[in-house]
Formats: sequence, structure tokens, C-alpha cells
Amino acid sequence: MYLRSIALRHFRNYHEQRVEFHAPKTILVGNNAQGKSNLLESVAFLATLGSPRIRNDRDLVCNGEEAAQIDGEIECLHGRSELQAIVRRSGRRTVRANGETCRRQTDFLGTLNAVEFSCIDIDLVRGTPDYRRRWIDSLIIQLEPIYVYILREYGRILKQRNAVLKQLKPLQSSTNPAIADTLPALDQQLATAGTKVIRRRRRALDRLAPLARHWHHAIGGAAENLTIAYRSQLDPDGMTDRASRPAQADRPTDTDDPHAIQQRFLDRLQQYNSAERARGTTLIGPHRDDIELMIDDRPARHFGSQGQQRTLVLATKLAELQAIETVVGEPPLLLLDDVLAELDLIRQNHLLDVIEDRFQTLITTTHLNAFDAQWLDRSQILTVDRGSILLHTATTLPTYPPHAFSSPS
Ligand SMILES: Nc1ncnc2c1ncn2[C@@H]1O[C@H](COP(=O)(O)OP(=O)(O)OP(=O)(O)O)[C@@H](O)[C@H]1O
Ligand SMILES: [Mg+2]
Repeated sequence: MYLRSIALRHFRNYHEQRVEFHAPKTILVGNNAQGKSNLLESVAFLATLGSPRIRNDRDLVCNGEEAAQIDGEIECLHGRSELQAIVRRSGRRTVRANGETCRRQTDFLGTLNAVEFSCIDIDLVRGTPDYRRRWIDSLIIQLEPIYVYILREYGRILKQRNAVLKQLKPLQSSTNPAIADTLPALDQQLATAGTKVIRRRRRALDRLAPLARHWHHAIGGAAENLTIAYRSQLDPDGMTDRASRPAQADRPTDTDDPHAIQQRFLDRLQQYNSAERARGTTLIGPHRDDIELMIDDRPARHFGSQGQQRTLVLATKLAELQAIETVVGEPPLLLLDDVLAELDLIRQNHLLDVIEDRFQTLITTTHLNAFDAQWLDRSQILTVDRGSILLHTATTLPTYPPHAFSSPS
């Protein structure tokens, strides 16, 4: 798929800005704090209706304005689409596809797919489980937009159950004793919704893990083995200390049977009943699960060098690209935020080999001199300066997208 243009209105530090993309690769160059990452964020927002950089929609709205608008023109094998997202300070959103207001997010999601790779992705290795959960969730949303509703449903039940547990906390004098009677039904609902989340996360990781392992070998050049596994508290050894668990390869594989997972979920809730009442919160479920990244069966977080950790993240991102391409049937966009110049030439060239001209790539950087000449030759180069985008050099570029895009077979 190909993003032909993007137009921003009151988005972050942009007032009115339209950018047309004429080449498979676009390099956005500029000093710090000019709006390079903001532009990539706007593209990623059209793909996921979210951003890892925000807690609230109001963060996206230019200071002093009420609403921000992003318009994108996309060309894919099925033809052209226009996407529009309006986010408001109030939190209310409007999303349109081809001029029609979408009542459901699933009518919007899936038109544009993108994989973003920025320096915060090192948090995949070093960050908290919450970061890894949000990462896999946003990938699944792109693979299977209906997942948005599955997640939302789980969140709704969790909130309700936590409110009940809070009231059951010892020393809550105003508690109505009948409130405890609502728990069994909520347990059942939580286990049903949670099982859907767990199964989808596992399936996505099962798809991703061999691809990531392949790239890890290819980039790292060493015989190290990367394993990526979903770690749920429902696993048979889910409650034991990580260091004392047997190596990944020796662990029994978990079943994908929804009834078995659901039953284990209910058993664990039973087991944790008094702890949950004492703490006043839900201690079991996918909201507390994690993703384990291991190099030769040792947690990459504790044992990986910085270089190893970077290689791991790059391998994971390449795996994401491939996974989306396989499922969606078209290459997604690649958004590289300030990471390319950080890679050594071997890794830069690996990346170049993978993306060729198939994956439209937007790249941000503060300086062009870290780029291999091969990158510069085939890229449209734009300068970002205080929320304005200008053509950096008048480069002669091949016509893009290739002919196949405009004449779907
Ligand atoms: N809601 C907003 N309204 C106005 N300006 C904003 C808003 N959110 C962020 N900014 C501004 O956007 C600028 C940061 O933009 P961005 O993160 O895109 O920078 P960058 O060009 O990627 O810089 P770096 O090279 O440091 O990563 C900052 O000056 C910040 O104050
Ligand atoms: Mg930036």
C-alpha cells in the first residue's frame, strides 16, 4: 500500500500542512523539536487510531486549538481510499473513510497499515510489561481490527470487577454485603473475555516468533537463538520466579483450547480470591501478562548488550512488517523515527535489502550524513522546520508508486 499524501490541521505543532509522497522512501530531516516525529505519529494514527506517545487525545491537538485533523490518501491493490480522523480536546473523535463517517472503528482500521520503529522501541526489551502488552495489542489491531472490541470488552469487565473488589476490601464500612454475590458472574465474564485476548496475543506471537528468529540470525550473524513467548499467569508455571523456570524449549506448549484456558482462568481467580479481596483489585488476567524476549534462553533484558538488544528490536520490527504483509496481503508502511542513523552500515543495508522499494518508508533524522548513499539516491528528502515541511533538494525520482498499484488486476 502507498500513502500518496497526508494533510494535517492543528495537529501537534502543525497548523496547516499537506505533504505529497513521490518516492518509495522519504527522508524528513530537521533539527530537534521541529515536528519530524509528529508527522510520523499522524501517519501511525491513521493505521491504529492510537499513539504510544499519548495518554489523551488532547495531547495531539495543537495548543490553543479545539480539534486536530489528519487526512490521508491511500492507494492499495483494491484502489484508492481517503481516511480522515478528527480528535478533539474533549476526547470525542470522528473518523471517516471515503467521506462516510464510520460508526465502528473497524470500518476505518485496516485501510492503512504501518509499522513504526523508534528509539522508544528499545522498551520492548527494557521497558515494563505494560509497554509490551500495548505493542502486541496494536499489532493485533492491524492484523484483525475486531480485536479493538475484544480489548474494550475485557477492559470494561475488568473495571467493573475492580470496583466490586474495592468495595469488598476489609474495613470498607459502607459495603453492601450483597455486592459479593455479583462476583461469580463477573469472574465468568472476565474469564470469557480474557481468554479471547490471551488466545489472540498468543497466536500473533506464534506468527511473529519464527520470523523474528530468522531476522535475528540474519542481522546478528551469530548462532544465537531468539525466542519470543507469551507469559501468562495462567501458564502452569506462571506464578514461579522467572529465573527458576526451565528453559523455553523445555516448557510444555500451551493449549489453544478456549475451554481449557477459561477453566484455568477461573481456577486461578478462585486461588487468588482472598488476595484479590485484600488488595481490592484483579490480580489475574491478560492485563498482567507479559511477553518474554530471550536470547539463548536468557532474558534479553538482563543479559543482552546494547547492540544485542538493538538487533533484537530490529528483528522484531522486520517480523512485524512481514506478518502484516502476509495477513493483509500488501506491504505495510514502515516508519523509522530517528533509528536508521543509529544502526551501523551492516544493519542499515540489511534493512535496505528487506524493504527494497516494496515497503514505502518514511524516515526521520537530524542529519543526512549518517546515511548510506544508496538510501539518499532513491529518497525524496524533505526539511522539517518549526511545523513546516519544505522540499529539501530537487531530486529526480522514479515515478512512484509502480504501475501495478494504479491498475489493480
Ligand atoms: N499539542 C501540541 N501543540 C503544539 N506543539 C506541540 C504539541 N505537542 C508537541 N508539540 C511540539 O512539537 C515539538 C516536538 O515535535 P517532534 O517530537 O515531532 O520533534 P522532532 O522533530 O521529532 O524532534 P527530535 O529530533 O528531538 O526527535 C515540540 O516543540 C513540542 O513542543
Ligand atoms: Mg523525534
